[in-house]
Amino acid sequence: MKKILIAGNWKMNNDVDESLKLVSEIESFISEKESLKCEVLVCPTFLSIFPVSQKIKNTKLQLGAQNCYYEPKGAFTGEISIEMLATEGVSHIIIGHSERRAIFNETDELINKKLSAILESGLTPILCIGETLDQREQGKTYDVLSSQLDKCLLGIQHSDVPKIVIAYEPIWAIGTGVSATTSQVDDAHNRLRKYLLDFYADGAKNTLLLYGGSLNEKNAAELLALENVNGGLIGGASLKSKSFTEIINIADDILK
Ligand code: PGA
Repeated sequence: MKKILIAGNWKMNNDVDESLKLVSEIESFISEKESLKCEVLVCPTFLSIFPVSQKIKNTKLQLGAQNCYYEPKGAFTGEISIEMLATEGVSHIIIGHSERRAIFNETDELINKKLSAILESGLTPILCIGETLDQREQGKTYDVLSSQLDKCLLGIQHSDVPKIVIAYEPIWAIGTGVSATTSQVDDAHNRLRKYLLDFYADGAKNTLLLYGGSLNEKNAAELLALENVNGGLIGGASLKSKSFTEIINIADDILK
């Protein structure tokens, strides 16, 4: 049965008050719905995680973090551990976002360490991969995606593969208002599923594959309906409750 995860990546937006306002709007929308079929996740800044966690306790909303460090504690100024996030009710952690790779020089090797540590803790990693426009134009998209997966998934147990969420986010589509086309997303997700099945056998059928990159309430119906798309990692459109809740409705319609 198809599963859909709608994940809002708030990035470095929303102070604590704004985060609480946005999450309250999303929560009251969900609680007024007769039933919720998709999973819904919000990923605020570290600063807002604690108050948002208090606010959504015992609701259907899930809480994610945008990053973590793989060591449990110690002299790592500016970092936050997986255990600290778990204690506050975080269930998912985004790793390898292209902004972290490009601006903060995160490598596949570092992302692999984070991935292993998150799996060990029992939380769910959302591993982001994606190609630049240049790489796509040179026909290198699938070499880039396979190489990112080869390195980020190195040493991962087969049994852990269904516990990983993978977000395909073409870098050229992030924050641009221009999403990848339906056929580009279809093709990429079919190939990602094939890659996972080839390496990790049947368990990989259950790995959730999200699409990210200018996903919004206008293109969600087409993209989320694709066979190997199991949801979205949503930046811009997750910052407005109206857009985000419309996407939730669209996902629920698909799962009807
Ligand atoms: P966007 O961001 O929806 O604003 O393109 C997606 C992301 O970076 O996760």
